[in-house]
Amino acid sequence: MKILVVGSGGREHAIAWRLAQDPQEHEIYCAPGNAGTLDVATNVDIGAEDVGLIAEWAENEKPDLVVVGPEAPLVKGLVDRLEEIGIPAFGPVAAGAKMEGSKRFAKEIMEAAGVPTGKAETFTDADAAKAALPGYGLPVVIKADGLAAGKGVIVAETLEQARAAVDDMLVGNRFGAAGAEVLIEEFLHGEECSILAMVDGENAVLLPSSQDHKRIFDGDKGPNTGGMGAYSPAPVVTADKLAMIKEKIIMPVVRELKKRGIVYRGILYAGLMVNDENSNPRGPAAKSGSSVNVVEFNARFGDPETEAVLPRIGGDFAKALLHAATGCLKDEDIVVKDGCAATVIVSSGGYPGDYEKGKEISGLDAAGAGATVFHCGTKESGGRILTSGGRVLSVTGTGATLREAVDKAYDAVGKISFEKMFFRRDIAHRAFER
Ligand code: AMP
Ligand code: GLY
Repeated sequence: MKILVVGSGGREHAIAWRLAQDPQEHEIYCAPGNAGTLDVATNVDIGAEDVGLIAEWAENEKPDLVVVGPEAPLVKGLVDRLEEIGIPAFGPVAAGAKMEGSKRFAKEIMEAAGVPTGKAETFTDADAAKAALPGYGLPVVIKADGLAAGKGVIVAETLEQARAAVDDMLVGNRFGAAGAEVLIEEFLHGEECSILAMVDGENAVLLPSSQDHKRIFDGDKGPNTGGMGAYSPAPVVTADKLAMIKEKIIMPVVRELKKRGIVYRGILYAGLMVNDENSNPRGPAAKSGSSVNVVEFNARFGDPETEAVLPRIGGDFAKALLHAATGCLKDEDIVVKDGCAATVIVSSGGYPGDYEKGKEISGLDAAGAGATVFHCGTKESGGRILTSGGRVLSVTGTGATLREAVDKAYDAVGKISFEKMFFRRDIAHRAFER
């Protein structure tokens, strides 16, 4: 198949890499891709958010499939444009991508579909929002409604912090239009996990569970990042839980969207909080009464979850994506391999705050001998590979056990170096603490 992957991060490198493992050979393109995707694809010099230019490329090149990585082009209607010109695309139309693009919309769908989630209200008026705060207890969560590059969620430990967050968004305009509406949400206790469901408009097949590490420092300390590592499977998601998540969370959302005329195709990513005797940590029960609650939905593959999950997928991946994109996905399209995978993100020192770019990376070949090195923020310059982002590399080890997978990932990270490189040393700690 001729396939275009849209995006330039570790997720897109992992998607292109996984397509390149398929039994039959594909002609793979990445727009814009990065220094790593060059190994498995031809990079096309079009930005992931240039919806018009991507549609034009697709109209001329007639790929058999376009796989959209990031949320921004989905929210901007890239898939709607591709549908108009008859190009199969993996990813939801803009109306579906609102599950990620508007937290208020996602809550409305969850409420209508009876999906367990934190209790929340939406406000545009700062005084009304602040008046509602005491009813939520502490901590309390304040969220900007729209896309805010992962920065629009504040977990406030005190009422003072909560009021400041409300003012910041509604009066100070911190996130512009994305924060013109805020949600105040019940704090959910427990252990987080990520479920990536492949959806074809009507049916869903769940990919293996995973767990992300959002904070920058070991022990889950410091500010939130895009994700500093992941592993799969996540033991907090037992087989029973996985079945429950499909039946009570994923399918009701797919059906509710369809009822509203939105045929959702692509990944529906559920960020979940599990709070039961098997979770680490546990805490007071949620108001919904359910042991699994939705924290957020995303309309795309997670990053770095994808780098830990896709190495565990066997079979013909392109066929599975195409079947989801064209409404005929079957359970057998997804083949899950035994074993475990662990991904360590190597970042630029200073991330998620300010950091420098353009540092030469060495040791990539040696690292690649024992693990898979996905590129997140790199670029090629005169035969050298340079850093070009906060998250630079995503290093995945696989093995029969999680310990083996983690050891292989860290052995490989140990062979890589660039000035001021940083990584967490405790990926998968919750699984090991059990
Ligand atoms: P989101 O962008 O909605 O995923 O939020 C980012 C992170 O904030 C999540 O991964 C959680 O760690 C945390 N978070 C968001 N909402 C809640 C909540 N209601 N209770 C506890 N933690 C939350
Ligand atoms: N790793 C979190 C996300 O992709 O949103």
